[in-house]
Amino acid sequence: MTANKLAVVVLAAGQGTRMKSELPKVLHPIAGRAMLRHVLDAAESLNPERIVVVVGPGAEVVEAAAAPHQVVVQEERLGTGHAVMCAAKALADYASDGASDILVIYGDTPLLTGTTLKCMLDERNAAASTKLVGLAFRPDDPAQYGRFVVDRDGGVTGIVEYADADEEIRKIDLCNAGPLIGEGRTLLKLVEGLKNDNAQGEYYLTDLFAAAREQAMDARIVEAPADDVLGVNSRAELAVAEQVMQDRLRATAMAGGATLIAPQTVWFSHDTVLGRDVLIEPNVIFGPGVTIEDNVQIRAFSHVEGAKIASGAVIGPYARLRPGTDIGQGVKIGNFVECKNAVFGAGAKANHLTYVGDSTVGTKANIGAGTITCNYDGFNKFKTSIGASAFIGSNSALVAPVSIGEGAIVAAGSTIVDDVSKDALAFGRGRQVEFPGRAASFRDQQKKD
Ligand code: UD1
Ligand code: CA
Repeated sequence: MTANKLAVVVLAAGQGTRMKSELPKVLHPIAGRAMLRHVLDAAESLNPERIVVVVGPGAEVVEAAAAPHQVVVQEERLGTGHAVMCAAKALADYASDGASDILVIYGDTPLLTGTTLKCMLDERNAAASTKLVGLAFRPDDPAQYGRFVVDRDGGVTGIVEYADADEEIRKIDLCNAGPLIGEGRTLLKLVEGLKNDNAQGEYYLTDLFAAAREQAMDARIVEAPADDVLGVNSRAELAVAEQVMQDRLRATAMAGGATLIAPQTVWFSHDTVLGRDVLIEPNVIFGPGVTIEDNVQIRAFSHVEGAKIASGAVIGPYARLRPGTDIGQGVKIGNFVECKNAVFGAGAKANHLTYVGDSTVGTKANIGAGTITCNYDGFNKFKTSIGASAFIGSNSALVAPVSIGEGAIVAAGSTIVDDVSKDALAFGRGRQVEFPGRAASFRDQQKKD
């Protein structure tokens, strides 16, 4: 059978009561990105004709996360079947020709992959008689998932929701992962006929299978690895999903040529980009927007977010790179150094206890221990510019806006409020005075008193 056109419906209107959160469930992040975005990624990988996202009322934030896809509002949350009924109008024109499929997926299964969905498409296309395909899995703990009831030929008789299942049914370990695909017109007709006479008084999408069986339509299942379809309903499940996603990202990083000394202690963002021969020591955390070139070392206990790091740089241990940091080739950023919106030219160094914010640092400049760029006066932010090969002595405060010329030297302990010109030596501190023998006489005096 040749493949039909495809539309995907993503259900994202549920309240997520079990999360106990102000944030809609599908917006809770996994690897720094909303669950819904992960699910949309999987859907987009199939290149469907359209994607329709069903959202709850007043959920503008969910609508924004669903962009650029079409959004349909489910005014009352009457169940997963009802959610698809709400999308039916938006799909009616599309599904009218009998040559279009509809795939329904749930917004709270963030680990779903395009590969798994593709298997469902293949099963649907394998035989013209297969009208409906569901996705099953066998989790270690079947918990509250719906259970597939399958006949001897592997045809699906129905799905029984946990709340409606008796002891015998609950013993079944073949669980419903959520996604299902069917010929569009037929699927919408079956959805129209759903009833809510069940334990939860909801229109269950899962009842589609029993309805199909009643009309002698053949329904099949594809089995997925349990880790690909975990449903997130609680904070504990969110943490499990995060672990699975992190393991995937760690494996991808290592397969791409990065060394992770203790993979379990490195936390990636969904979009972290690593070059080859990058060494990541234990206990490193990446926030979103990090790109790292080849031969970079990220040493232990560093936190890196929104930063570009060029080849050969060494970061940390205990460094913090915040958004807007751009590290040039061979730069060294040492312990307890914080950088924000700061561009470092090749070979520059800031090795100890420093804050560099809203700054440009020229090539081979050296920033001494305890240097602070004072970029904020409580109202506005100001820029600091440090020229190539400049040397900033330890414990200096550079009060922005200020510019240190190329090759200039700032004496240790200076507070610099005026620009320093090229190759100049600048002191910004009180002169030291000495009183010979005064310490001893002071001590004698104290003893007499
Ligand atoms: C659902 C399935 C269950 C399956 C499990 C897999 C049903 C009836 N049950 O149960 O068989 O094992 O997923 O994870 O489908 N939603 C709406 N509108 C609603 C209700 C839900 O859009 O009125 C959305 C939710 O945002 C969520 C998804 O549908 O993304 C699933 O809803 P949820 O309430 O989490 O279903 P489960 O009880 O997990
Ligand atoms: Ca769920």
